[in-house]
Amino acid sequence: MKVFSGSSHPTLAAGIASHIGMQLGKSRITRFSNENIKVKIDENVRESDVFVIQTSCPPVSDNLIETLIMIDALKFASAARITAVLPYYPYARSDKKDEARISITARLMADLLQTAGADRVLTMTLHAPQILGFFRVPADQLLATPVLVNHFRHSDLSNSVVVATDAGAGKIAGHFAKRLGLPMAIIDKRRVDDSESAQSTALIGEVVGKDCIIFDDEIATGGSIKEAARILRGFGVRRVRVGATHAVFSGAAITRLQEAGLDELVVTDTIPIPAEKAAQIPNLKVLS
Ligand code: R5P
Repeated sequence: MKVFSGSSHPTLAAGIASHIGMQLGKSRITRFSNENIKVKIDENVRESDVFVIQTSCPPVSDNLIETLIMIDALKFASAARITAVLPYYPYARSDKKDEARISITARLMADLLQTAGADRVLTMTLHAPQILGFFRVPADQLLATPVLVNHFRHSDLSNSVVVATDAGAGKIAGHFAKRLGLPMAIIDKRRVDDSESAQSTALIGEVVGKDCIIFDDEIATGGSIKEAARILRGFGVRRVRVGATHAVFSGAAITRLQEAGLDELVVTDTIPIPAEKAAQIPNLKVLS
């Protein structure tokens, strides 16, 4: 078995390799002046069971192409089986045809990974688990829920309620609430497009005077969290904490998370957070 890292998240790849007592495989990734990418596998992988770790973070398109080239290089170096380990799946939110004449890009990603030579795919906390059905090779997701449950379990939960930012997040938030033995509430979120902050109008459940734990799959622009915190405060909650798997932190996320006034913001390390960005986000904790 061999484990290779793409250039998106070397710290996570090194942590995974060290956790299973392995060294990362040797490879060289070169970016030419014409923006072409070359991947050279620097050790023998003939008949090996190979894992490639690459998350989807900026530069998203470069990282994607690099993943495909790395898988192709391993295939042509006669690796026996290649598993693409994608902690944050590329284009996970483009999972359905909710407008006319658009691409279901999460499906296109599945096609590209298989064409490059991925024999299996392993990802984490998908925005929509149905994405696994876009593959014709074995594909699985791991959930970060146990790691987040473990974190919150060690805090005072006596007056707490889990809050889903919308009905779509209700299922994973419900699973999280059940594991913590807590009740749940759901916010009614309306969004026009990605650039526009989400807008909420109503809430189902009991939150008055409670410590709320908002649970979501990802924080992208921070609009959903900021709006959820605003509406919860309007209902007179005591504290607002957040648990989310993927810290995308794109666009206006930093400002919105500063404005949200969260008592705690807990995310996992599926996506690298630059130190200067992390330093600007109040009460942030990153779990491995
Ligand atoms: C949406 O359905 C997801 O569960 C997240 O709530 C969403 O991706 C967060 O995006 P943003 O931070 O941009 O509001």
